[in-house]
Amino acid sequence: MKITKICCIGAGYVGGPTMAVIAKKNPDIKVTIVDINADRIAAWNDNDLSKLPIYEPGLAEIVKETRGKNLFFSTEIDKAIDESQMIFISVNTPTKTYGKGKGMAADLKYVELCARNIAKVATTDKIVVEKSTLPVRTAQAIKSILDNTGSDVNFEILSNPEFLAEGTAIQDLLNPDRVLIGGASEDAIESLANIYGSWVSQDKILRTNVWSSELSKLTANAFLAQRISSINAISELCEQTEADVNEVAKAIGMDSRIGPKFLKASVGFGGSCFQKDILNLVYIARSYNLQAVADYWEQVIILNDHQKRRFSDHLISTLYNTVSGKKIGFLGWAFKKDTNDTRESAAIYVADHLLNEQANVVVYDPKVSNEKMQSDLNYLNTRSEEENSKLVKATETPYEALKDAHAVAIMTEWDEFKTYDWKRIYTEMKKPAFIFDGRNILDKSEMEKIGFEYSSIGK
Ligand code: NAD
Ligand code: UDX
Repeated sequence: MKITKICCIGAGYVGGPTMAVIAKKNPDIKVTIVDINADRIAAWNDNDLSKLPIYEPGLAEIVKETRGKNLFFSTEIDKAIDESQMIFISVNTPTKTYGKGKGMAADLKYVELCARNIAKVATTDKIVVEKSTLPVRTAQAIKSILDNTGSDVNFEILSNPEFLAEGTAIQDLLNPDRVLIGGASEDAIESLANIYGSWVSQDKILRTNVWSSELSKLTANAFLAQRISSINAISELCEQTEADVNEVAKAIGMDSRIGPKFLKASVGFGGSCFQKDILNLVYIARSYNLQAVADYWEQVIILNDHQKRRFSDHLISTLYNTVSGKKIGFLGWAFKKDTNDTRESAAIYVADHLLNEQANVVVYDPKVSNEKMQSDLNYLNTRSEEENSKLVKATETPYEALKDAHAVAIMTEWDEFKTYDWKRIYTEMKKPAFIFDGRNILDKSEMEKIGFEYSSIGK
C-alpha cells in the first residue's frame, strides 16, 4: 500500500520527535499527531518554539520546517484515524499502579483505548503500528479487538519499537543503528519499510515476526540497564579497594566483546523506560513461571535502587550523620542531560531520602521547573504537598542554589555544571564544603585544590 497519510496517536517524547523526522524525510506524506491532552497539542502548535512541550536538541528546527506543511498536531483523533492508511500507537505504557500486576506489569489501558477507537472509527483498511513499548504478544490483543468490529475493514498489525534515547532523539532517529519491523503481512511491512527507506538504508531495516520484535525492545532495554547496574555494582567494590571505576570501565571496555558504551557509573539510572520495561519483563517471565529468569533480571532493579540509596546514605553519614535543617544544593533534576524529562530520575529518590531526614533541598536544573519537581515528589506520596513545597525549592541560577549550602549533590551530567565558577561556589558555601558528584563530571584534584571535600562514585 502506498502511504500518503499517517496518524500518530500520542504526542509525547516518542510520538513528537519520531513523526517530526518522518514528516521531514517524507514531504509527500501528511503526518498528523493527535492526543487527548489538549494543552500538550496547544504547546506543540505554539508559535514560540521554546514552548514546545518537549526539549530535544534539533527538534524545534524540524518542527519549524515541517509544521503546517506536512506535519500537524491536533486533538481531532477520530478524523485523523479515519483519513489515514497507517496509524501509529505511541501512547504511554506505564507500570500498573493498581490491581493484578501492580508495580510490575505494563498498564495497557491506553493502548487498548486506542485500538477500540481505531475499531470504532475506521471505514477503510488500516495498518496499525505498535510504536509504544509493549509486552510480548500484545499484538494478539490488539488484533482481536480490531477483528471484532463487525465491519469488513482489514487491519494489519506491525510492531515497530522505538530505540531513540532522550537528549539525542533527533540524532538517533536520523542515524538509527537499526529500524525493527515485526509483522505477518509482507505488504504491510514493506509499506512501513518504504517510509523509513527515505533516509535509512535497507540493510539497517530488520524484518522479523511480531513476537520477536515486541520482545526485542524489552530485551534491548534490559541489556542496556544491566550494563549500568553491573558497573555500578563494581563501583561500590572500587570504593572499598582503591580501584577507580573509570579506569576499570576503560580497561574492560577496550575488549571489543564488551565495548566502551554504557559503562558510566552513576547515582543510578532513571528515565521512563528502563525500570518500567525490566519490571514488565520480570512480570512476563513470572507469568510463564520462569522464576530463575525473573529473578535474574530483577537484580538489575534491586542494584539500581541500592545505588540511589547508598548515595543518600553516604551524603548523610559524611555530613556528621545529620542533614536536619541543612541546605543541600542539587545540581540537576532531569534523569539525564539535554532533556526536560524527569521520569524516574535518581534526583527524585535521593531528594526523598534527604527530606525524610528533614534536609532543605534547593535545586537548580537548566530545563526543569519548580512545579515539575513538586509534582514528582508529590507523586511519591511520602509526605504532604505543603511539606514538599516547604522543604524543596528551585532556583533561577546555580549560585543561588549553592549559596550557604552544606553540600552540593550533582544529580545530572549537564555540561554547563563543569563550567561554573567553582571558586565562587566554594567561597559562598558553608565549611567544610562537600561535593557529592553523582555523575563523576568534576575533576577531583581541582576541586580539592579549591578546598572542597569531594567524593564521587566508584573512587
Ligand atoms: P508520553 O507520556 O510522553 O506520551 C504519551 C502521550 O499519549 C501523552 O501525551 C498522552 O496524553 C497520550 N495518550 C494517552 N492515551 C491516549 C489516547 N487514548 N488517545 C490519544 N492520546 C493518548 O510517553 P512517551 O515517553 O512518548 O512513551 C510512549 C511509548 O513509547 C511508551 O510505551 C514508551 O515505553 C515508549 N518509548 C519511550 C521512549 C522514551 O525515551 N521516552 C523510548 C522508546 C520507547
Ligand atoms: C533508553 C534507551 O537507551 C533507549 O534505546 C530506549 O529507546 C529508551 O530508554 P533513555 O532512557 O532516554 O533511553 O536514556 P539513556 O541514555 O539510555 O539513559 C538512561 C539512564 O541511564 C539515564 O539516567 C542515564 O544517566 C543513565 N546512564 C546511562 C548511566 O548511568 N550510565 C551510562 O553509562 C549510561
